[in-house]
Amino acid sequence: MATTSETKKAPSGFFAKVIHHSTEVESPASKIYVYEAPVRFWHWMNALCIVALVVTGYLIGKPLPSIGGEASDHFLFGNIRLIHFAAGQLLIVLLVYRIVWAFFGNEHSHQLFLPPFWSRKWWGEVWHEVRWYSFLEKTPKKYIGHNPLAQLAMFTVFLLPLLNLVATGGALYAEGEGIDSYWYMAFGWVFSVYGDSFNVHTVHRLSMWVIVCFTMIHTYLAIREDIMSRQSLVSTMISGWRYFKDDKE
Ligand code: HEM
Ligand code: HEM
Repeated sequence: MATTSETKKAPSGFFAKVIHHSTEVESPASKIYVYEAPVRFWHWMNALCIVALVVTGYLIGKPLPSIGGEASDHFLFGNIRLIHFAAGQLLIVLLVYRIVWAFFGNEHSHQLFLPPFWSRKWWGEVWHEVRWYSFLEKTPKKYIGHNPLAQLAMFTVFLLPLLNLVATGGALYAEGEGIDSYWYMAFGWVFSVYGDSFNVHTVHRLSMWVIVCFTMIHTYLAIREDIMSRQSLVSTMISGWRYFKDDKE
């Protein structure tokens, strides 16, 4: 009968080779922890809210042809609006949470809010990324956090339109709640900025289309860069770890 020590002996022959090759191959690439859990949680929850808001917002703006029966029985449009308002309020809470986290998180957690517009070097790198994305550069650069072009886009065509959506959405909601509501106290000023309710609706819609374009390009580039760049992307927003495919500068 085999003793305990014999049972624990390392496998030899064919199995040793398989195990050696599947677990012990040395990788030249390095990895670094970049996106902390609150940033990743916010990213995916925020994306989910935006998908719900775009679909329901579109249907509010361009309602479906009416369906038969008593409206209060199926309450279809009511539910579409309910999902929109619930997702909108969740998005606002999540945004506040993300802004607070920027004060406590690592250096990559405030990249979204503070692109270094004053730095000539940074603009040079934005230009390099434009050329790389347009297939005019042969070698991509390595970045630990967001690359400068991604950072510029996330600030100008995501964060600013999102703040606009929150302001105008809050104002439209305040209209429903009445001028003596807390909503109106918080968002009533938006009507003075844009003139009247019609303009607020228009700006709310236009900002949506900016975010829709951003999301489509962002998703394409995240997947494209995962394949073509020298570092991981999609898995980084899931696990937090950035893997580099080579050790060169
Ligand atoms: C990504 C974020 C958002 C998108 C894409 C979005 C999209 C839209 C669209 C397209 C409409 C139809 C506008 C129209 O035809 O006049 C709409 C209406 C509205 N949205 Fe949003 N929205 C967003 C965020 C919010 C937020 C944060 C709130 C605040 C709670 C909000 C509250 C409203 C209200 C109250 C209406 C008017 C509903 C009605 O008139 O029945 N939205 N939204
Ligand atoms: C509504 C949909 C989406 C929105 C609004 C959105 C927005 C954003 C924002 C604002 C950031 C910066 C995060 C921060 O610094 O806190 C980011 C990063 C990122 N997003 Fe999205 N995202 C969306 C969907 C997606 C999808 C579907 C993917 C994957 C296919 C994706 C992949 C990534 C990756 C990989 C990063 C990190 C980029 C890097 O490593 O530099 N996103 N996204």
